[in-house]
Parts: sequence; C-alpha cells; structure tokens
Amino acid sequence: MGAMVRKVSMLFWAVSALLVTGLAIGSSPEHASVFAIDAVAADHFEASKAGAEVLAAGGNAADAAAATMLALGVVNPASSGLGGGGFALYYCAKDGSLTFLDFRERAPRASHQAMFDIEGEQPPGPASAPSQLGGLAAGVPGEPAGIEALVRRFGKLALSDVVAPALRLAEEGFQVSEALARMGQVFGAQLRQDTVMSKWDLRPGAVLRRPDLARVLRAFADEGAAVIYGGVIGKEMVTSVQAHGGVMTLADLYAYRVRTRAPLEVEAFGHRWVTAPPPSAGGFTMIQSLSILERAVGPNPSYGAPLLHAMAESWKGPFLDRQRYFGDPDQVILPVASMLEPSRVEKRAKLAGGERARPSSDYDFPVEWTKTNATTPDNAGTSHLCVVDGEGNVASVTTTVNLPFGARFTGGGIVMNDEMDDFSRGGGEANAFGLVGGHRNLPGPFKRPVSTMSPTIVLRDGEPALCAGASGGSRIVTATQQVAMNVLLHGMTASDAVAAPRIHHQGIPEALRVEEVAPLPPELRDALVARGHTIKPIHNVANVQAIQIEQGPERRLHAASDPRKGGRPAGR
Ligand code: GLY
Repeated sequence: MGAMVRKVSMLFWAVSALLVTGLAIGSSPEHASVFAIDAVAADHFEASKAGAEVLAAGGNAADAAAATMLALGVVNPASSGLGGGGFALYYCAKDGSLTFLDFRERAPRASHQAMFDIEGEQPPGPASAPSQLGGLAAGVPGEPAGIEALVRRFGKLALSDVVAPALRLAEEGFQVSEALARMGQVFGAQLRQDTVMSKWDLRPGAVLRRPDLARVLRAFADEGAAVIYGGVIGKEMVTSVQAHGGVMTLADLYAYRVRTRAPLEVEAFGHRWVTAPPPSAGGFTMIQSLSILERAVGPNPSYGAPLLHAMAESWKGPFLDRQRYFGDPDQVILPVASMLEPSRVEKRAKLAGGERARPSSDYDFPVEWTKTNATTPDNAGTSHLCVVDGEGNVASVTTTVNLPFGARFTGGGIVMNDEMDDFSRGGGEANAFGLVGGHRNLPGPFKRPVSTMSPTIVLRDGEPALCAGASGGSRIVTATQQVAMNVLLHGMTASDAVAAPRIHHQGIPEALRVEEVAPLPPELRDALVARGHTIKPIHNVANVQAIQIEQGPERRLHAASDPRKGGRPAGR
C-alpha cells in the first residue's frame, strides 16, 4: 500500500499548496540589513534577535547559532526543534579551520529495510504515509546533542546563557507568524490529535506560549542534552513514540552520537566553496554542479538564459548519483571521489554546455524512475541560519524536523521529527521530495538517512566571503547555489540575491521548476523553453538565509533572510 499512500499524500500536497501560498517577493522590505560588527540571519525575526542577544552578551558565533536554533524550535515548531536534527558548518577565525558537525537523526536500532511496507488504512490528511506521520516516522533526534556540541566545542558561554532567550519566548509567548499560521491551517486536523499541539492557537498574530517546551528548555539548561538522551524527558519521549506505534527505545537515545566530519569542498569560479559532506547529498550536488558549470560556461559567466540552462543541466547528474549511490557514510561504501572524477565531470559538462535540454535518460536515470509521478511539496519544514560574529567566526546551520511539524506528535513536550521519510523504499518509490533513493539508503539500525541540507561557507583569498543555506527539501541545494552565485559571480547584494527568482531541476520529474512567487522575466522563460525545457511552476524554490562578508577596513555584513518565509536578520 505504500505507493498508494504516497500518491494520496502527493495529491493532498498539490491541493494544500493553494493554502500554503506565502509572501509575495518584495512585500517584506525588512528582509535584509547591513551590519558592522556581527549578524544573524534566520527565517524568523525572534530567532535572529535571540542570536543577536547572545552575541551582544559576549557569546560568539557558536553560542549565537545555538541560541538561534533553540529559539527557532520555539517560534516555528513546523520547521525545526529539539525533536529534529541537522548539520552545522563552523569557521573558526583563530585558526581558519572549518568543522562540520553532523547531528542528523538516526534510525532506531529496531529499524529494518522493510519497516515501511505496512498494510492498513491510511490516516486522513497530508503527508500521512507511515514514514511521515506517527511513531515509526521519528528518527532518534540529534538536535539536543548538536546544540550542546556546538556550544561546548566552540562557544564561550554556558549552555544556560544560550538557552535563555528561547526559554523566555516559550514562557512569555510570541506572536504566531504568517508562515506558522499557514502550516497550522494545512496540518490543523492532525495537530488536534496531539495532547500538546491541540492546545495551540495558530491564528496569525495570536500569542502562543509553550509551557511544555519551557519545562524541557529549563531541564536542558540545567542538565544538558543528557536529560533527553536517557533522562526524564527522554523517557517521556520514548513512551510517546511507542504509544504512536514507533520502535524507539531509551537505549537508542542513550546511544546517539554527534559525528564530526570533514566538509566537502571545491575551488570554482575563483572561490573556495565549503559545504556539507554525506550523509548530505546537497553539498555533493553543489560541488559537482559547480565543477560541471565552470567547464560548461567558463570562469566568468553572466546571468542569463545560457547560464540558467547549463545550471539546470548541471544538477541532473548529481541528483542521479545521489539517488543511486548515496547512504549513511558510516554504514555504506560511498565512492564520492570517484563520482567527482574529472572524466565524469567533463562528460557531464559536455551535456550541460549543449544548446538543448537533455532527457533524464542522457544522465542514466532509470526509465522506471520517470514513472513515479512524484511531485514535491510546495513548502516543507527545515530552517537555515547564518551567524557571523565580531571575531570573524562563521556558523552556517541547517536544522529540521523534516515535513512541517515532523511526525505531528509530541514526546515529552517536544515535536518529533519524521526524518525516516528521507530513507528510500528500494522499490523505485519516491519520498516527499520526489527523490527515489537506492539500496544504500534503505532504513537500518542506527542509520542516518540521506539529506539535502547544505550549510555552506564560501571563501575568497582565504577569508570567508559568504555564509548561505536553505530550507526546502530537495530544492535546498539548488537555491543555496543560486543565491551564492548571485552574490559572488553576479555582484548582487545579499538582499537582491536572496529575493531574485530561482529555478530548480532534479532530473526527475523531467520539469524545470520556476517560481510563482518570484517569476522569471518572460524573455528568460521563453529562452529556456526554446532550449527544450518543460517549465512547471512551483510556489517557491526553497527559503535561503545568507550573510555576505565584505572584508577590509570597512568590514560590512550584508545579512538577508528570505522574504519567502518572512524572516528578518538582526545584529549590530
Ligand atoms: N529532511 C530534509 C533533508 O534533510 O533534506
């Protein structure tokens, strides 16, 4: 029944997209600011302010990133929180090191390849496959451990100082944003089934207090992540997961570990691009695409139809690699270096440099994958934030509960993720983002599912020039790359770069997605059609946060939060 459940879910997504329409581009004049000392760009102003408050109190980028993550989990539980996981890329100004922390959720020990081949009635509502809704959908959260690791390894403040702004928001309340209200509308019927979320008033502008989460945050501030990984909150979490049909145990929580990994990087277009390694496939997609593009269009491409065409082509190959080969690097052999071999890149650059759009079969996509009919949701969970502090440290962090409100139940007052949907099925079925996935990404004990999250820092002449990243499922990487190219290659300000129209292609479906919220100029659109692209509008291509760092005596930080999600940066 899995396939049928997914089809119904996809249909619901398409219908609900009408409800999930967001801000028109340009309607938020405050989506960008220029700062002199430090800056935080998050997709919610309260979260940016939480980070800025911690910076002003003497914290550094790691402390501020942790505070921003915690605040995001309070003010936008549809996107991220302590029940989820993510990735952090950290640039340390003192020694120029770049460290990648992987606090992705991982599968409970009792997980197995066939765990989502479940017969039975589909619960009503959107995203209601067993990997998307309920106890089995929830991976072991990594966010509490990730926050603690970020602060303990790189921060200057105590955990309790970093938790303080989020705790205040949870206790005193905050105004429900348009973005949260829209999600609440789409998922309202499911949220009403949960003892905690059923009490929420998610009308725009309503003041929401979260006493259940405040209790967790107080315990986290006092006792650290251990209170979740085996402590009292963890016990409540596991009881709830099991009551919702899941297999997570206290031992799974206790066994959770953050992984430190070497980021992926490439020299391209005169910059050093540093981004996420596996289990993200996003960073890989970006660096392969950049390598292909540089060969296909030369080192100084101007913005226009030839570049957009080549860019769309450049993503098809890496999206094929991702779906065919990627899995948890701790559990499967992942020949990333072979996949990036110059001869392979050269072959794909020849395709991308051609005049015409190529069918997915030219990039070796299996024919049966083209029949999935998969579409991608018009909006998704996940949140990206960038922080630059006065010492020059940079934090680029993407955090998620996967689909909005994760698995749509709480455990110990925490919204649980549905990251298990990022595993593959093995039978050619697509996940919520239209991604198929191969046998390496089948669920298994303690495995981390493949992600698209792509926290990125780009350096020029050894100094950070840009922090960027996005939320938005499979579109995270294509959006992040476009915004970075807009700033670094096309001379746009971060503000204009983030607001500019974006495109997306992932090989299958065989359609070039263009934004409704930021339409391409008609002449560009026509030129892409003339090159053979099948254009299919989508509400938006992800939500990007970026900080451009103008080095020099007049150091300036151009911070931009995506107007598509209503964010706003803060800083000094
Ligand atoms: N859950 C979305 C991602 O990790 O890509």
